[in-house]
Amino acid sequence: MPEEIKNNTQTTEKKKRIFSAIQPSGTITLGNYLGALRNWVKLQDDYNCIFAVADLHAITVRQDPKVFKQNILNAYALLLACGIDPEKSMFFIQSHVHTHAELAWLLNCYTQFGELSRMTQFKDKSQKHADNVNAGLFTYPSLMAADILLYQADLVPVGADQKQHLELSRNIAERFNGIYGKTFTVPDPYIAEVGARVMSLQDPTRKMSKSDENVNSWVAVLDKPETIMKKFKRAVTDSEARVCVGEGKEGINNLIGIMSAVTGKTADQITAEFEGKGYGDFKTAVGEAVIEELRPIQERFDRYINDKAYLEEQYRKGAEFALKISQRTLDKAMKKIGYLPK
Ligand code: TRP
Repeated sequence: MPEEIKNNTQTTEKKKRIFSAIQPSGTITLGNYLGALRNWVKLQDDYNCIFAVADLHAITVRQDPKVFKQNILNAYALLLACGIDPEKSMFFIQSHVHTHAELAWLLNCYTQFGELSRMTQFKDKSQKHADNVNAGLFTYPSLMAADILLYQADLVPVGADQKQHLELSRNIAERFNGIYGKTFTVPDPYIAEVGARVMSLQDPTRKMSKSDENVNSWVAVLDKPETIMKKFKRAVTDSEARVCVGEGKEGINNLIGIMSAVTGKTADQITAEFEGKGYGDFKTAVGEAVIEELRPIQERFDRYINDKAYLEEQYRKGAEFALKISQRTLDKAMKKIGYLPK
């Protein structure tokens, strides 16, 4: 039973509540894993965690129905494979819990046009997809606020790209609370103690991103071992031929960061270990370490994705539980606004 229920019956100090979500984009990269997912897994022991596959957010760009359906299931299975444990955390698919879309509508009416217009992600994405600047792309942050506020989350682990959205969620919560009295917990960003920022293997001044056209610039968690090795062998380095952290050595810095994240060794230990060795040896070693880190995840993924009954059971339970918790908040907000109770 997730902690949440147990805690409700206890008077002992309550664990803080964390909410986070990831879009089912089709490819979860090593960057997503080392920068976010792996931290989520660790957080499960110290917090009441609520995780979701944000499939409502995903239709702000056009999705092929068959591929989309598969991507949602794959994302759910992969997160389980990474170590999201439904016995410890609430873990569901966003579209299965109707309160999200409902609260998002309400919050839209407490979110200003001007605020949404200032979101840098909206500006970027509306430039990139000039042919489909839909209203969902614009109001995306109010849906994100709904996700978070429905569960009265205290903390939200987010990367730099989502910080502005979280800030807006806080403003919406404060505004609503200001009008109607305390309704929502105002969430704080959760800053991970050690969050690896994984950069592109081809242009290490940029963050690793699966939207990069050059497939050699990113590694997917589900890439085959041969593919992973090939991508690391092709990684951009520098001409100094010394494995150490330094200025102008963004490629090597990134590889050291990845090596450190997967082995737990410090940059100094890695430098000492590769003293006198060439970049070829180092790149192979990083590739091998990453392959070993991902191997058990890939094995678990294969098992889960071939066990539809298990997946269904998990996401149904997750949604049922999430609905119960989130409905309380939605009811409370609706009552405050003045809606007639059913
Ligand atoms: N918008 C986030 C992203 O694209 C995903 C997301 C949806 C999310 N709802 C959230 C993240 C709530 C944190 C909290 O990465």
